[in-house]
Amino acid sequence: MSVLIAPSILACDMLAVGREMKRAASSGADILHADVMDGVYVPNISFGFDFIKAAGSVVDIPVDVHMMTVCPQKYIKELKDSGACSVTIHHDIAPEPDVIKALWEIKNEGMRAAVALRPKFPASDIEPFLPYIDMALVMTVEPGFGGQKFMEDMLPKIRKIRDAAPDIDIQVDGGINEATAALCAEAGANVFVVGTASFRAPDMKEAIKKIRRAAEKFEV
Ligand code: DX5
Ligand code: ZN
Repeated sequence: MSVLIAPSILACDMLAVGREMKRAASSGADILHADVMDGVYVPNISFGFDFIKAAGSVVDIPVDVHMMTVCPQKYIKELKDSGACSVTIHHDIAPEPDVIKALWEIKNEGMRAAVALRPKFPASDIEPFLPYIDMALVMTVEPGFGGQKFMEDMLPKIRKIRDAAPDIDIQVDGGINEATAALCAEAGANVFVVGTASFRAPDMKEAIKKIRRAAEKFEV
C-alpha cells in the first residue's frame, strides 16, 4: 500500500487559501484533507462545500472530505459537486443500514467511500462496513480541532483493522507528525492526515518529506 500524505486544510492560513493549497501541492502533498464540521456532531464549525470546491480548484491533487456532521447522507450531491474524490463518514451517525446506504450512494457518485471511528469505538465496529469501503479512518484525537495530542492507545486498533482488512487504505487523523506517523505506519496505517505538522511547519516540503520517509520504513 503506498504511503499518502494529506495536509489538513483546517491548519492552513485561511487568509490565503488558494496560495496555501498550491503550497501544499508543490510541497509534495498527495491529497488535500477537508474537514467539514457542523457544530453538532463535533463542538466546532469549519467550512462547507463552496469553500472546498474553491480550495480544490487551484490544484491537481485529489480532495478527501472528512464529514464530521450528523447527516452526511443529505449532502452526497453537494460533495460530488465540490470535487471530492473520497468521502469519509462516521459510523455512529445513523443505524448501520443507513450508514451502508450512504456509503453506496457515495460510491454511486463515483467517489471513494470511507468510515471513521472516533477514539472510543473499538476496531470491531468497522467490520460490518468492510465490504463497502475503500478506506477506514482511525481518529487519533477526539474529532473537532487541529493541534491536539496524538493518542497512542489507538495503535492496537490500527493493527486490528489492518489484520482484518489487508487491502483497504487505513487513514490516521490527529496529532500526526514524523514520530507518530512512524508508529501508525508500523501498526498498519498508510494514509496520513497532517494539519499542524505540515502547514505550520517552518518548511512544509521538508516536513512532508520527513513524514513520508518515516512512514515508508514500515510500508505494508
Ligand atoms: C480533527 C480533524 C483533523 C485536523 C488534524 O478533528 O479531523 O483533520 O485538522 O489536525 P492536526 O494534524 O493538527 O492534529
Ligand atoms: Zn479530519
